[in-house]
Amino acid sequence: MSPGGLHLVVPGARLLPQYEEALEAGWSPDTERDISREQLTRLRRNRRAFLASLTRQDGTILTASGREVPRLPSQVFWLDDGEFCGVADFRFVPGSDLLPDYVPGHIGYSVVPWKRRRGYATRALGLVLNVARGRGLRRVQITCDEDNTASRSVILKNRGILTGTRLHEGERPKLVFNIDLTTGGGGAAITPSERAPI
Ligand SMILES: CC(C)(COP(=O)(O)OP(=O)(O)OC[C@H]1O[C@@H](n2cnc3c(N)ncnc32)[C@H](O)[C@@H]1OP(=O)(O)O)[C@@H](O)C(=O)NCCC(=O)NCCS
Repeated sequence: MSPGGLHLVVPGARLLPQYEEALEAGWSPDTERDISREQLTRLRRNRRAFLASLTRQDGTILTASGREVPRLPSQVFWLDDGEFCGVADFRFVPGSDLLPDYVPGHIGYSVVPWKRRRGYATRALGLVLNVARGRGLRRVQITCDEDNTASRSVILKNRGILTGTRLHEGERPKLVFNIDLTTGGGGAAITPSERAPI
């Protein structure tokens, strides 16, 4: 299927069995920490509560360096080409283009290994940029590990501009990119058939 057939969907029961299979295969939706086992345990304990936890807005989160910090408003999307393909998430500070220092970037993504190299991450980032624009952001920051060639390429294809390097305790050095959302840049337009929930 072409990347044009890729949708962003809210995590839900339809794709949950494939999400579970992906965790079982060792895929982690969090690229900073391997959380596949932890999520698998929670999912199997209570599927409904697990789904609800993916979209919760309250409480705290644990950073890569082990700090417990307030959770920012966020949206989690599953990538759907008819099957579960991966995740993309977007977090932000309402009314601001800036982020607290403990948040490396506005947008993260991870594609399951068997759906890679089809343009899905590139397409998904473009769709999430449209969501960010819809939320009123004028600029987003995205980071990737210095040696993550694939992610770097995904960001550059979405008009990312390299602005520097982030050196942060407990994290690997990261390349920092900005994407200007005011120029119509950052990803393809959403076609009517797409279902990016905003
Ligand atoms: C990074 C990642 C999301 C890319 O997903 P993807 O769907 O395969 O990406 P795309 O198909 O859109 O590919 C984008 C570009 O990266 C290139 N690419 C993909 N995988 C690559 C690899 N393993 N090595 C080198 N280049 C790669 C593609 O060829 C493409 O560039 P091109 O069209 O110029 O050749 C995926 O590899 C992944 O989930 N990795 C683990 C999690 C992660 O690193 N997330 C990003 C955190 S910042």
